[in-house]
Amino acid sequence: MDLTSALRTTGAVRRFTAEAVDRVTIAAILDDARFAPSGGNRQPWRVAVVEDPLLRRQLAAMMRPVWDEYLAAAATGQTPFNTVAFEPPATVPSGQPNELLDHIDDIAAVLVVAADLRRIALMDGRLDRAPITGGASVYPFCWSVLLAARARGLGGVMTTFLSRVEPAAVAFLGLPPDHALAATIFLGRPEHQPTRLRREEVATFTTVDRFDGGVFSS
Ligand SMILES: Cc1cc2nc3c(=O)[nH]c(=O)nc-3n(C[C@H](O)[C@H](O)[C@H](O)COP(=O)(O)O)c2cc1C
Repeated sequence: MDLTSALRTTGAVRRFTAEAVDRVTIAAILDDARFAPSGGNRQPWRVAVVEDPLLRRQLAAMMRPVWDEYLAAAATGQTPFNTVAFEPPATVPSGQPNELLDHIDDIAAVLVVAADLRRIALMDGRLDRAPITGGASVYPFCWSVLLAARARGLGGVMTTFLSRVEPAAVAFLGLPPDHALAATIFLGRPEHQPTRLRREEVATFTTVDRFDGGVFSS
């Protein structure tokens, strides 16, 4: 597959066949992904390949209430957990189904990606809003993991729900001080690889010179 096709057709996969993915393949995926860019090339990512079924279940149990809250908040029309104007939902039905969490035992690979905060120059860390630039040193790596998996006929999805309960996860994962949980990536052989992705057109998000400028068009 050429690069442009891969960029345009790598949809999130949350249902997998029972096929295992061996360590050699996971290592090869990570070996490709390590070429991702990061601020100052400081490569702050750390990866825990979670194989222990009990630990997987413990992580799923931590993520479940986050998923429940996400769904309840989304149902009110909000972007859940946004830092600008988020109203926690009045009620949160618990134990909502989730393809990933329900089947975490069976998913071929579960990778928890952390970031070493000592290696991240947080350019917007002093502004009066939630910082955003730090993630840019680790999420390209996560996306490269997904592309490298796709190159091998595998698929998956990056998730961030574990970050919301990071303090609870620290001891389970042996997360070192000054590290942050960035993502949990689920990988496997897709039951179906979505390739027709719904994305906004360029003209809806691109303007000339200024963000209040005219629509950029070719
Ligand atoms: C930063 C980030 C966080 C995400 N968190 C979750 C998550 O917690 N759970 C989940 O199921 N998917 C998660 N996703 C996957 C998105 O839902 C998915 O990329 C998006 O809906 C587009 O899906 P598509 O590629 O199939 O069109 C996340 C993706 C990104 C990039």
